[in-house]
Amino acid sequence: MELLHRPRRTRKNAIIREAVAETRVHPAQFIYPYFVKPGRGMTDPILAMPGISHFTVDTLLKDVEVGLKLGLNKVLLFGVQEPKSEEGDAAWSERSVVPSAIRELKKVFGEDLYVITDVCLCAYTTHGHCGLVHDHHVLNDESVERLVKMALAHATAGADMVAPSDMMDGRIGAMRQGLDMHGFTNTALMSYAVKFASAYYGPFREAAGSAPGFGDRRSYQMDARNGREAMREAMLDEQEGADILMVKPALAYLDILAELRQRTDLPLACYNVSAEYSMVKVAAAAGLVDERLMTLENLHAFARAGADLIITYHAREVLEKRWL
Ligand code: PBG
Ligand code: ZN
Repeated sequence: MELLHRPRRTRKNAIIREAVAETRVHPAQFIYPYFVKPGRGMTDPILAMPGISHFTVDTLLKDVEVGLKLGLNKVLLFGVQEPKSEEGDAAWSERSVVPSAIRELKKVFGEDLYVITDVCLCAYTTHGHCGLVHDHHVLNDESVERLVKMALAHATAGADMVAPSDMMDGRIGAMRQGLDMHGFTNTALMSYAVKFASAYYGPFREAAGSAPGFGDRRSYQMDARNGREAMREAMLDEQEGADILMVKPALAYLDILAELRQRTDLPLACYNVSAEYSMVKVAAAAGLVDERLMTLENLHAFARAGADLIITYHAREVLEKRWL
């Protein structure tokens, strides 16, 4: 058979495949999420997310130290099991567990560790919504005001970057202004710019105790059917001063990530969320799939679609087992 084009030539063996690989994933791209709760001496496994635990500040420090040795130098902190109230006051209290964790991490690891925090009210409000509620409506501007206070509490404690995940309108501009006014001109903002209302957050809500007590999040998180609106959300956050734009979840939204890559010069992050992680873990535990291969396939898909940064619960194990 006379065939001029034989694409298989560059797939002949591992050497040439490695040489022509278009996408690589590097540990420097990983951001590792941590759930931190009040108390001491606890590392409590989260059943819905095999391999992931709740930590207290002291056990967090130990775990981060091990992670750092593996090359995990960026963490994303979530506060859980704090006292809840109608407005979520604990979210912006400097005595809460996240500011305490930031101070301790910065004291011990300094510039060796990059500390990012999730900014949202849902783990702190009795109703479990990401903002303030009045007459069963989630208020926008009043919520933004509280979220700015929360971002300031984290910046004051020493966070390198804050990441608002609430999806209220105008919060990026308000946070940038609030941070700058208080002298935090170097605190970076990673916006959960395109966050879809998703069933893929299920295990996280169990882990964070942040499921909404009534209704759902569809009046603020995006409709999974909308791609143009996603671009609009992202462009607004760029104009408002975001340093990094995030798409979340990742796997079902790679088209959004790829299109956004064409439209912005900002660094892009994707959030490989809880159910995306747990589905792989559960399927692997059942012997249905090869966990290493499936994890690497997903991670490379994120990079191929355009993600610079990858927030993933897999990061620790990938590095521990030297899968990259
Ligand atoms: C809170 C928040 C959520 C996630 C990150 N921040 C859940 C939600 O919006 O209900 C999801 C993370 C995950 O599923 O891993 N605003
Ligand atoms: Zn929230």
